[in-house]
Amino acid sequence: MTPPPETGLPTAGPREATLGDHVLGQLRRLGATVGLSEADTALYGQILIGSLSGAAQRPLSLPPASPSFISDDHTPVEFSLACTPDAAPGLRVLVEPGCATSDMTDSARTGLKVIRAMATRWDFSTGQLDALEDLFFPASAEGPLALWYALDLRPGGVPGVKVYLNPSAAGTEHAAQTVQEALHRLGYGNAFTGLPQAAGYPFIALDLGTWKVPRVKVYLRHPRMSADDACALSRATSGPAEAAIRYFFNEATGATWPPEQEAEEMQRLLGRPTLTCHAFTNREAEPSGFTLHIPVRDYVRNDEEALVQAAALLTRFGMDPSILNRSLRALSRRHLADGVGLIAYLALAYERARPPRITAYLSSEAYAVRPPQEKRLLDELSAR
Ligand code: TRP
Repeated sequence: MTPPPETGLPTAGPREATLGDHVLGQLRRLGATVGLSEADTALYGQILIGSLSGAAQRPLSLPPASPSFISDDHTPVEFSLACTPDAAPGLRVLVEPGCATSDMTDSARTGLKVIRAMATRWDFSTGQLDALEDLFFPASAEGPLALWYALDLRPGGVPGVKVYLNPSAAGTEHAAQTVQEALHRLGYGNAFTGLPQAAGYPFIALDLGTWKVPRVKVYLRHPRMSADDACALSRATSGPAEAAIRYFFNEATGATWPPEQEAEEMQRLLGRPTLTCHAFTNREAEPSGFTLHIPVRDYVRNDEEALVQAAALLTRFGMDPSILNRSLRALSRRHLADGVGLIAYLALAYERARPPRITAYLSSEAYAVRPPQEKRLLDELSAR
């Protein structure tokens, strides 16, 4: 059991560990790992706890307040580590502020309140979000989410704020149209028509607050992806090199593709689908950024294997692999081989005029650890 973190919150006598204790402990240790000051980490911790509207005080012995889609065990919080060559990694946290509410309408209301309080606190505009309210918060909204936010936990106590919305809020059948209309309203007229084909539109995201170049991001879902598919999906103006994407895809999935493989027999991923993210900036019709997200937890036996694959990728792209190992140790004391999912996703991100970034999405595992899997879904890769 981890000792209760020093949060400044009342800790009257011995009591049961809460969700708040769990995620604050993780944040404190991760903050130290990436070199954030204690003051910054404490401030971000207060904001995180304050935004969970009561769920933070809930004992961990109770089941999660709602089946949050943020993580497999429904913890409404996920961390991520954004690595670049020659710089300290960035720590971010993804949160479902409405996790303690009982339906998507209430969840949206709670989420909006949290974002508006942040806007007041850090003096940024919510204009872009306000312009989309009727699209993403209809009267009886559908899940699996209403509003998530992520904070880029920068040194200095002013985070970058991102808001995630659900294009299927008015029904999956309207998702494409909702994304198209949202892009249009945000000044990206016909950008939608330039996006690659996809099986679904899981999220749209807005950068709010202080960003050098704020982005509007569209996420696409691609089941049964092959390495060739992965290479063909970027629409970014100065796109990533194909070889880098192919290398990332193969390494993140642990694939050892037979070189003699015929194109017709191209192998495909059968587990959770991969996602791509297309970032729009400066009202340009063509995206300036491209990200490939691989749900690595479905393509490894356990987290020891996930770490080996992630470390190889970080090394290859010129980044320090040891930070990831230290971050996993900051999250959990369990043996990495005893479960799978601590590393939920690995992503390769390109933004114009910047070196590629590798992001590792790290689970909190407040409620459950997924047991190691005997056989990887990868082993079941089949011919088309
Ligand atoms: N848990 C969801 C999923 O696996 C949503 C999600 C959480 C996600 N973190 C993510 C999706 C990081 C992509 C990247 O899809």
